[in-house]
Amino acid sequence: MPHELNGQTKCVNAGIGCDTAYGAVTPPLYLSSTYKFPALDEMGVYDYGRGGNPNRDALADALADLENGAGGVVTSSGMAAIDLALNLVPKDGLVLAPHDCYGGTHRLLLARQEQGRFKVAFFDQTTKTAASHIARQSPDLLFIETPSNPLMRLSDISALCQAAHKVKALAVCDNTFLTPARQQPLVLGADIVVHSTTKFINGHSDVVGGAVVARTEDVAEKLAWWANCTGVTGAPFDSFLTLRGLRTLHARMDVQEANAAKIAQFLSLHPLVKHVYYPGLDTDPGYALANRQQSGPGAMLSFELACDRSGVAAFLNRTQIFQFAESLGGTESLICHPASMTHRAMDAAAQKAAGIGEALIRLSVGMEHSDDQIGELAAMLANISAKGAKP
Ligand SMILES: Cc1ncc(COP(=O)(O)O)c(C=O)c1O
Repeated sequence: MPHELNGQTKCVNAGIGCDTAYGAVTPPLYLSSTYKFPALDEMGVYDYGRGGNPNRDALADALADLENGAGGVVTSSGMAAIDLALNLVPKDGLVLAPHDCYGGTHRLLLARQEQGRFKVAFFDQTTKTAASHIARQSPDLLFIETPSNPLMRLSDISALCQAAHKVKALAVCDNTFLTPARQQPLVLGADIVVHSTTKFINGHSDVVGGAVVARTEDVAEKLAWWANCTGVTGAPFDSFLTLRGLRTLHARMDVQEANAAKIAQFLSLHPLVKHVYYPGLDTDPGYALANRQQSGPGAMLSFELACDRSGVAAFLNRTQIFQFAESLGGTESLICHPASMTHRAMDAAAQKAAGIGEALIRLSVGMEHSDDQIGELAAMLANISAKGAKP
């Protein structure tokens, strides 16, 4: 039996030493949009770049291997990946999704409902009644996002997938926040994993991309068909860069997660912080589940400031290490205000239902030294007191 390689080795080795033309160690970049047919009625491996490209396939194969899937498709963004998976919902079918998912996912699901493609219902997937809710609603597709964005709530992937399968629904899990280095939804029972590779997988905030990985060949083939049909596949150069970023995924995750744990501890003891959402804290409601279904708490966290909006503005004023920007998962730290940034596509009622308030701050913890990160956060918190903001 060949020895199953560790995910870290798979990331480093993906596509390495495979060049048959010149023996290049790292994969060459194939930008050509079209490929020669050897002869009439004969086709090579590739014919046209929308349906297949060596760089895109190398990345798709690497991600499928890491997620323990049968096959994958690389898309032009995370949203394209989610929309690709939604093609498998029958007309007038029902999609169940978390009430506190990424704002863009929420917007896409509502827009597709508005168009008459399918129906959507949102619910809290973290409660004990989630499985019975799925049984009652009998969806065609269950969409899971854990940890949720931005509140890091965890839902039980295997329990939710079991409930979905009992009613013959496809279970799709967004694994963007943790990546296969920390969580493997297909192993826990999901049928499809979706990623925004823009985030930790590429890891350098210089590519927008996505991926879908299916547990079975049958589903992988359907996704590849739809990807070619609708043209949502990713660009070769983006795939090349993302595969390069993937090589350091484990090392980045290790450093960023260790930094996040220190920051979560620091914030949880600060008087101007009302609450920290981080499943690595033993006081977090997701702590036990994180230990069961994840191999680490990850490098994302959020927290509630104990101040009014002027205090939030003072806190966010002229940050240096924490870039005041949307997105996540890069080597640099990012800080954002979900209510006005990543989740502004949700209306006020939906934000309230999801628990996204005006004093909520989200951090994507990067690879800077934790002393410098904590030093900047301490100074930012001091700005709130200096402004005399009201708790
Ligand atoms: C959890 C999650 N899924 C999907 C997406 C969408 O990804 P993209 O921006 O690459 O389209 C995001 C973007 O922030 C996200 O946070």
